[in-house]
Amino acid sequence: MRIRKAVFPVAGLGTRFLPATKASAKEMLPIVDKPLIQYAVSEAISAGAEELIFITGRSKNSIMDHFDKAYELEAELESRGKRKLLETVQEILPPGITCIYIRQAEALGLGHAVLCAWPAVGDEDFSVILADDLIDGKLRPCLAQMQRVYQEYGTSVIATQQVPREEVSAYGIVETQPVAPGLGEIRRIVEKPKPADAPSNLAVVGRYILTPRIFKLLERTSGGAGGEIQLTDAISTMIQEQTVLAYEFEGTRYDCGSKLGYLKANVEYALKHPELADSFREYLCERVAEWNSRPRLAARK
Ligand code: UTP
Repeated sequence: MRIRKAVFPVAGLGTRFLPATKASAKEMLPIVDKPLIQYAVSEAISAGAEELIFITGRSKNSIMDHFDKAYELEAELESRGKRKLLETVQEILPPGITCIYIRQAEALGLGHAVLCAWPAVGDEDFSVILADDLIDGKLRPCLAQMQRVYQEYGTSVIATQQVPREEVSAYGIVETQPVAPGLGEIRRIVEKPKPADAPSNLAVVGRYILTPRIFKLLERTSGGAGGEIQLTDAISTMIQEQTVLAYEFEGTRYDCGSKLGYLKANVEYALKHPELADSFREYLCERVAEWNSRPRLAARK
């Protein structure tokens, strides 16, 4: 049992990154030297995906170009003898992987974006990855961890993470019945609850393995919070018919849909980058020493 098809909804407007996202995709923002979408694609491929389905909108052509062969660039790098860079460009997409692009004409929400993938996914279980949730898996990538759970239980699996109570209103929050350590069956799911109404602090993050039943349910789902078709609403109906598991992944998530999360990811990935780690660490240490040597505002009062 392997999930062959991965869906990447990349049609959001990315308003939190304007003006950077006015004419180009949020998912093309780089974390050091690779765009967010490339990390997401690598994660899907490492979990066994062979068919990548991108749900795109306007200003997303750069995503198509990124995963396409760049003949002129490759010829130029070859003629300049830049072998390492040539390999970097050629390795973006391994052989045997197919890309499909489907246009979401209007940004009607994540649920609607997933529904747009139906003709390409058909009647098989599939995964959904939100590229702006960058996850650094502890022992293996997050989707590969989820794939193991899927292989054992053969049902939908959703990635979750404990978040501070005061942040629950930014997430879909689940109430679960424990199944195993870090794994629970979802009993209830609520989109962006107030902290006082939240059934727990276990938040849904941007990785899902879903059965195709979700498409029928999405088709019936009308606009929820903010007029958008919410994936959470369809999952809420699905748990009445099928088992849906909440899996607490092992690793660190960076919310790269927010500026602070994006900056943190860049710092952490730069500190692990083979060419940059040492010089960047040195720079950060110098800056920290400089800040620490400044008199604090409070001390001056
Ligand atoms: P977000 O909630 O982060 O929305 O979408 P957004 O438009 O990308 O960004 P902001 O909030 O305006 O800054 C979560 C994911 O769902 C996709 C986005 O591309 C992102 O990966 N999405 C959202 C769609 O594909 N279509 C939509 O209609 C909405």
